[in-house]
Amino acid sequence: NSVSLWGGRFGGGPAAALAALSKSTHFDWRLAPQDVAGSKAHANVLHRAGLLNDDELAAMIRALDRLAADVTSGDFAPAPDDEDVHTALERGLIERAGPELGGKLRAGRSRNDQVATLFRMYLRSGARVVAGQVLDVVEALAGHADAHLGVAMPGRTHLQHAQPVLLSHHLLAHAWALLRDVDRLRDWDRRTDVSPYGSGALAGSSLGLDPEYVAHQLGFSSATENSIDGTASRDFAAEAAFVLAMIGVDVSRLAEEVILWATKEFSFVELDDAWATGSSIMPQKKNPDVAELARGKAGRLVGNLSGLMTTLKALPLAYNRDLQEDKEPVFDSIDSLTVLLPAFAGMVATLRFNTARLEELAPQGFSLATDIAEWLVRQGVPFREAHEVAGACVQVCEKRGIELWDLNDDDLVAVSPHLTPAVRDVLSVPGALASRSAKGGTAPDRVRDQLAAIRAEITVA
Ligand code: ARG
Repeated sequence: NSVSLWGGRFGGGPAAALAALSKSTHFDWRLAPQDVAGSKAHANVLHRAGLLNDDELAAMIRALDRLAADVTSGDFAPAPDDEDVHTALERGLIERAGPELGGKLRAGRSRNDQVATLFRMYLRSGARVVAGQVLDVVEALAGHADAHLGVAMPGRTHLQHAQPVLLSHHLLAHAWALLRDVDRLRDWDRRTDVSPYGSGALAGSSLGLDPEYVAHQLGFSSATENSIDGTASRDFAAEAAFVLAMIGVDVSRLAEEVILWATKEFSFVELDDAWATGSSIMPQKKNPDVAELARGKAGRLVGNLSGLMTTLKALPLAYNRDLQEDKEPVFDSIDSLTVLLPAFAGMVATLRFNTARLEELAPQGFSLATDIAEWLVRQGVPFREAHEVAGACVQVCEKRGIELWDLNDDDLVAVSPHLTPAVRDVLSVPGALASRSAKGGTAPDRVRDQLAAIRAEITVA
């Protein structure tokens, strides 16, 4: 049983079905670069502790560099008998450094502390890629917000016309949510910046190896404070899965709007040909598949999160083999987003807004009724009564099939003596927008401020 890392006390190799169950190279092979980096750091710390002499260290690093090059070129790949990435790479090292030297690297480390460290390293670099891609979507939104500043649209609640808002205000609402996700990744990275290497199987290392030295070589600020926690905790993976799922969910909300906006009924946007798909049977079709895939993948990302949480629930300390199930869901979340986000950013960036239609619909559905009520409040009418009066105006208009601004002076007084002709001044979309000028409001000046703040966030990130 020469290929296994644990054959010593066993009479024979594992049953074929056990080996098949146990095997993880088909998904953990992607950790090979991190595994080799970990091995080099470990060789250095063994040398520092006097467990490898200068020549042995030099030969070990040479062999590991050769192994890394062979992994990159594809000359070295996992064999059918290799249990996991760590086993495969130890075989590769022994093939290159000989069994004598190659066999020395295992001292003072375990696959338990290895895998916990390599997984963190992989996710930290993956998270940086995703964060950059999310910022590309934010850029695309900010670009439209900038280009369309001043364009009004129907703001909705319950999907019903509510109040007019600036298109830019609406688009930047999505941008803020995505910027918080980027901030979450940054914050997560600060917590994940701790290396478990040197925790051994669970109890720590007895060989005088300095885990801080290893941590710094692998790009971590420090080593874990507790070797049991280091090898058994996976909250870093669950938290990553959450932030990735949140990104998927935030993107899916914009995706859903794009899907609606691109319908004949809404006609708010047109998709660029390069970012839309056709139908194999209906020649006229132009489908929003990118947005639909975004909406669909959100479900998958949430599934990855809940699957991992369920795996972790009630797991006793320290390492249990259940933890091998931690990687596929989070890898899948990273993979899903890294393929989705560039397409999504491209689709968003190339949307063409039908601004005439947005403007035309902005005041419809009596969306200025709140402005009547607030005008009355400014005249000293209690809001309760003002709300009633504005509602009565809507009722009159609905019955007669007219809009609020069509009510003449007599109509207004008939509804309430408080309604003087001056109320008509607020019955315009630009007036309604400009009046929402407090911080966070949809007034053009505030939206301009917002855009500047978003741009500043993008540059910082
Ligand atoms: N491949 C395992 C994992 O991904 C690491 C190996 C630990 N195996 C063990 N028997 N302790 O979690």
